[in-house]
Amino acid sequence: MKNVRPDFPILDQRVHGKPLIYLDSAATSQKPKTVIEALSHYYSTMNANIHRGIYYLSEEATIAFEKTRRKVSEFIGAKEDRSIIFTHNATEAINLVAHAWGRKNIKEGDEILLTHMEHHSNLVPWQLLAQEKGAVLKYIPITKEGFLDIERFNNLLTDRTKLLAVTHMSNVLGTINPLSHLITKAHAVGAKVLVDGAQAVAHLKVNVSELDCDFYAFSAHKMLGPTGVGVLYGKPEILESLPPFLGGGEMILEVHEEYSTWKPIPYKFEAGTPNIGAVIAFAKALDYLEHIGMDVIREHEKALTQHALYQLKEIDHLTIYGPMDANLKGGVISFNLEDIHPHDLGTLLDHEGIAIRAGHHCAQVLMKKLNVPATARVSFYLYNTPQEVDIFIDILKKARRYFNRGL
Ligand SMILES: Cc1ncc(COP(=O)(O)O)c(C=O)c1O
Repeated sequence: MKNVRPDFPILDQRVHGKPLIYLDSAATSQKPKTVIEALSHYYSTMNANIHRGIYYLSEEATIAFEKTRRKVSEFIGAKEDRSIIFTHNATEAINLVAHAWGRKNIKEGDEILLTHMEHHSNLVPWQLLAQEKGAVLKYIPITKEGFLDIERFNNLLTDRTKLLAVTHMSNVLGTINPLSHLITKAHAVGAKVLVDGAQAVAHLKVNVSELDCDFYAFSAHKMLGPTGVGVLYGKPEILESLPPFLGGGEMILEVHEEYSTWKPIPYKFEAGTPNIGAVIAFAKALDYLEHIGMDVIREHEKALTQHALYQLKEIDHLTIYGPMDANLKGGVISFNLEDIHPHDLGTLLDHEGIAIRAGHHCAQVLMKKLNVPATARVSFYLYNTPQEVDIFIDILKKARRYFNRGL
């Protein structure tokens, strides 16, 4: 892959006197110049509220905003642009489904099927719904290699299962889940499927129509776009059948004293002023990813992940959580080194200019299953290099010696 680093201004800096090595793209990605400039361009030349103005600026902003909807729709293989709802992040997209779809369709005794590897964003909304409705949460366990236990999944599905809410790619283990199988089986018992695509869509080619999922949620900020923009894809016939999530301006047709009527989808679900500039700049992120090519990005990350796994395996007393084959996982590696607390490791690496994540990664249920309070995590993106991986491994080995000596 060509060297993209000059396109990412933030990478060209020193932290604590060392060149920055950013290994936390699973938390949020860095942004190329084109995205940063698009934000500035919007506020410098186009800033106006959308869908309501009758003047030039507002029309321009509305056109640019809707152009992003078109691009997102194409990027994920949706059949219709009205399937694309802009939210503020993936979390809000999932909450939208829990409120609008869940409250209408989930009844006492119904079952919601989750997995032990879900991010809190795809777990807490279902707990709240289950508590409100008297529904039952069930969990697909994971194997010791970090895959979903498919046999258990097959047994957990019943005619009471109304929803399967599953991550496409684990933000801790990196596991890529076999969505086609899961979705076909879930549909066979009449359940709907929500996919948490927050990690996957930035790194894999995703086609929601081929997957046939009912909902797919993700955030722009993990895929080179600005913060404050999320996307919910939903099948149009399902979205049309739902009540609104949030009420307010922009989502209504008529408001009377006692009741209101709603705009058609997607606007019914986009109450209030959205993050207009960020949505418009998000289109540049999608252009950038498409220009490089999702297949090329995937191959690059696979190579980095395999390179890192190969070296990490050689370090004594280092435990890696999740699949050991880069073909079966994204560029995310969680690990622990002896009894060194991941936060201490993170601090030590930070002093060497290396940014990693340490903690429970918003996956406390998974941490319990792994029997650890926290892990250290590195995650790669298109701008990372094998040399950065080597430096990270080198510092990790030094860290081990450092802590062992009790210095
Ligand atoms: C798998 C997964 N789902 C959901 C989220 C939530 O994303 P956001 O905080 O952008 O809503 C994250 C963020 O780390 C994630 O990794």
